[in-house]
Amino acid sequence: MDNSGYSQEQRDAIYRVIAERRDVRRGFRPDPVPADVLGRVLAAAHQAPSVGFSQPWDFIVITDRARRERIAALARRHAGEFAADLPGARARAFDQLKIESILDTPVNIVVSCDRTRGGRHTLGRHAQPQTAEFSSVLAVANLWLAARAEGLGVGWVSFFDERELAAELGLPAHLAVIAYLCVGYVTSFAAEPELATAGWARRRPVSWAVHAEEFGHRGMPGEAPVDPLADLIGAITPPDAEAMAAAAERQDRMTKPRGSLGVLEEVSVRLAGLAGSCPPPLPEPACVAVFAADHGVHAQGVSPWPQEVTAQMVANFLAGGAVVNAFAAQAGAEVTVVDVGVAADLEPVPGLLPRKVARGTADFTAGPAMTRDQAMAALVVGAEIARDLVAAGNRCLVTGDMGIANTTASAALICAFTGADPAEATGRGTGIDAATYARKIEVVCRGLARHSPDPADPVGALAAFGGFEHAALAGFILGAAALRVPVILDGVIAGAAALAAVALAPDAIAACFAGHRSAEPGHAVTLSYLGLRPLVDLGLRLGEGTGAVLALPLVQSAARALRDVATFDSAGVADKL
Ligand SMILES: Cc1cc2nc3c(=O)[nH]c(=O)nc-3n(C[C@H](O)[C@H](O)[C@H](O)COP(=O)(O)O)c2cc1C
Repeated sequence: MDNSGYSQEQRDAIYRVIAERRDVRRGFRPDPVPADVLGRVLAAAHQAPSVGFSQPWDFIVITDRARRERIAALARRHAGEFAADLPGARARAFDQLKIESILDTPVNIVVSCDRTRGGRHTLGRHAQPQTAEFSSVLAVANLWLAARAEGLGVGWVSFFDERELAAELGLPAHLAVIAYLCVGYVTSFAAEPELATAGWARRRPVSWAVHAEEFGHRGMPGEAPVDPLADLIGAITPPDAEAMAAAAERQDRMTKPRGSLGVLEEVSVRLAGLAGSCPPPLPEPACVAVFAADHGVHAQGVSPWPQEVTAQMVANFLAGGAVVNAFAAQAGAEVTVVDVGVAADLEPVPGLLPRKVARGTADFTAGPAMTRDQAMAALVVGAEIARDLVAAGNRCLVTGDMGIANTTASAALICAFTGADPAEATGRGTGIDAATYARKIEVVCRGLARHSPDPADPVGALAAFGGFEHAALAGFILGAAALRVPVILDGVIAGAAALAAVALAPDAIAACFAGHRSAEPGHAVTLSYLGLRPLVDLGLRLGEGTGAVLALPLVQSAARALRDVATFDSAGVADKL
């Protein structure tokens, strides 16, 4: 029996107002908001749940134009500072966005929070002091929904230094600013968030956010639990033959001699096939994900560098001081670092994604580098990073890696998947003498003899040799392929990971673009096994994602040519006789 007290129609209205609430920044009408309407909306806000019923909010209603002008100037300054930090494509996109309507709306409302209200025995706040702020945010949500039902648009502006704004509003020091809201009648409400329409970010499906019983056990109520790897593999399908044919045909009609763009024509055709559209979207913005981890096999003396260099280089990436940062800045790409298995505790800093599966792998000459469960966990980490970066609006992913001794694990993986001879697949990595090189080959041989890897069991091979960054990169590549976003592969580490990814899902190759050919011999073996042609061949052997980032403008140019170059018909240029 339905004892909710709501008719189906009323229930539908609730869900409708939730779905149709929008953050509004455009199309405000100048007409004032009547006091009774504003009063109703504020009363709705005031009914929000609050920790210990502390009702920590206050609402400051601002209409004075001069004050709003001063506040708008504060927001503009912060927006400028934010924009100055953005990589190229993001900065251009940000320029097109409208991020506040402080002066376009008749009323602005500030929602504050008094963390001290109610004294020290506020129920629930003692354990989680931030519940005071959470409560004020719930007041914002109520206000936002009630406003929508009244036909009022609300735009939240967060480009402020909180204390600067507090000073402008005469807020006492114990009050925090929670939200700055611009409110007014609008001509219409957009169906989708502007940030989604503009391609800045995408909506994550609800199924990505729902876990059964424990974090990571994804599954919607009433549905079978998601097997993340099977799900990922199931989502990877072959490229779209029609889009590829259209792209090849368009290349032939473009105002240039047929085939004159060489390999870039093939790249553009592959991008079209992956996207399922001709022309394909521009592969920007792009993000380099540098997966970092340590290797137990380092104990075998395969690298002249101490293991601590992995963590030290992570700090360098995050400080913007590595080569990959310089190249990414030049190419207009973002750099993010994923700790998937560094053998050190890393400080939380912006740009670092802490996803440690374990503190380094075990020595693969003594036993498996990791357990099967750890290999699966690292694969899922990589896939979820890909998913999150694409949801954040990236249209091109770039692989990066950091892990002292990871060329040794790569060589073992390459031998396991391609059947190559360890002497052929093992390289000198960061630069080693003849004795270390001989030992490195011998270590790979011992590992292969110990584990007898089965190329038909890619998870087993990843578990046998590691590293965590290889498994995560394999997941990252699968994630990109499942979302049909190109992934530019760096050198031998990404190549070894791609071998695992393609062994799991052969169609994943359609998403892979070989950024460069590394000087490591195992990389050439890998590229020919995968049938990938490197875009750049400059003798690089650094890793980090450097070779892949150099190829980014080439991949982007290939797509742009297909989009922008006129055809013989459209430009009125005569074709070859
Ligand atoms: C805490 C918070 C702060 C926000 N700050 C801003 C902002 O400064 N500028 C802006 O344009 N949008 C801001 N937004 C709006 C979000 O970008 C917007 O809610 C999101 O794109 C989803 O769109 P929707 O609200 O229409 O569903 C903010 C939203 C929240 C929840």
